[in-house]
Amino acid sequence: FSEEELYRPNFHFTPKNGWMNDPNGMFYYNGYYHLYFQHYPDGNTWGPMHWGHAISTDMITWKEMPIAIYPDEKGYIFSGSAIVDVNNSSGFSKDGIVPIIAMFTYHDMDGEKAGKTNYQSQAIAYSLDEGQTFTKYSGNPVIKNPGIKDFRDPKIVWDSIHEKWLMVLAAGQKIMFYSSSNLKDWKLESNFGDGIGAHSGVWECPDFFPMVVNGTDEVKWVLLVSINPGGPNGGSATQYFVGDFDGKQFKIDPSFENELNNTEHKSIWIDYGRDNYAGVTWANIPDTNGRKLFMGWMSNWDYANVVPTETWRSAMTVARTVELQKINASYRLLFQPAKELTKYKSTKYKREDIAIKGVTKIIDSDAIDLSSAEIQFKISDLKNNGFTFKLTNKQDETLAFGYNTSDKNFFVDRRKSGKTAFSEKFADRISFAKRTSTNVNISGTIILDKTSIELFFDNGETVMTEIFFPNSPFEKLSIEPKDQEFILDNIEIHKLNIN
Ligand code: FRU
Repeated sequence: FSEEELYRPNFHFTPKNGWMNDPNGMFYYNGYYHLYFQHYPDGNTWGPMHWGHAISTDMITWKEMPIAIYPDEKGYIFSGSAIVDVNNSSGFSKDGIVPIIAMFTYHDMDGEKAGKTNYQSQAIAYSLDEGQTFTKYSGNPVIKNPGIKDFRDPKIVWDSIHEKWLMVLAAGQKIMFYSSSNLKDWKLESNFGDGIGAHSGVWECPDFFPMVVNGTDEVKWVLLVSINPGGPNGGSATQYFVGDFDGKQFKIDPSFENELNNTEHKSIWIDYGRDNYAGVTWANIPDTNGRKLFMGWMSNWDYANVVPTETWRSAMTVARTVELQKINASYRLLFQPAKELTKYKSTKYKREDIAIKGVTKIIDSDAIDLSSAEIQFKISDLKNNGFTFKLTNKQDETLAFGYNTSDKNFFVDRRKSGKTAFSEKFADRISFAKRTSTNVNISGTIILDKTSIELFFDNGETVMTEIFFPNSPFEKLSIEPKDQEFILDNIEIHKLNIN
């Protein structure tokens, strides 16, 4: 196998060539989901940032398009967002064409090298061809740097409750809230973050949106904040806050603040695995089904630049839906793979009521290719000390994941998963996620691609995403008990027939 064949995912987006990090500017328009991304097309490590571009009708299979935004004399094009300006608030429309407005951070490399602190500012660009090409606004930057070193990643959102455009920006270890009527003039409304949440790294790539709490009429606002370093299992990760917004100021919900304060790091994370960073949600999703859709960068700044691929680097997570659920006395986000994935399901393998006494083979790649599969399992009334699933290959390399009953931890262990030596930080530990659900059943959905596992436990209340690089594909899935026997009530495995 060449590295290319061995590690390029079957159904997670990767750039054809070169480096990729954060997803940017995601919007839906006219039948297409658009994904832009932090991109250095001329090298396989981070470099002068462009916005790469890809389109899809289902967020699963992507077509890479020409680069949408190039760096210029004002700087590299850092992360940001895009919206569909249906009512022409910006005034950029011509001949009735609906403009797409992108907002991004200019990162002035010379300013940084010269030791200045004001080298990041916010700019806009508009597209009159449905996001293929963008014209930078002549009045850039639209928000000058006020003397804050880390001042970036604008996320625009239409606030349908207060009927205005909002923008959230990461500034040091705070989020700044802005509003606008024309997308060019931005007014600073408030700040959030002092003394709340995780603060062991710089805050980046925020997102902010209202959500109806499942099964109620209650509306709460959700703030996503990526942080690097300081993730629950090391490096970069994304925390979230649930609260209220009066059009100016975000206030964390007291019950959610209480929950935060009861956690080890005063933070609740959208994903406890090591490889889901800088993720944000799509704009302009057709309201018919009221979905909120999310995608993240499936890597970690701890080792992103040195993972063992050559012609390209990094993949995105699978597209996920986000829901807000009242749980116990507070709120939790639930993440699930977008339902579009189900249309690719083919061969199905199902077993029920299996007594697991020792190492028990579930399936091997002769039956279903485990590098392109979705697995669902359910274990009711687990009374023993837990269970471990193992994916293994010919070389006996192993990716292990499961649950420890005694300390209520889900875990992923990639320490022996194949190539790990490229970075000391890649496989230095087992990743843990405290279980928060009190459901007697433990259930999960597992998405497997060649180099990634995405675990959605308890209906997506606890998520873990991790990448790995085995020397040959994982071919066998087994499960074993930590100690005494238990019953695996149900396991269903589907091949995902993509490509
Ligand atoms: C997050 C990030 C952003 C920045 C971009 C630069 O991964 O550091 O804050 O805009 O990457 O590529």
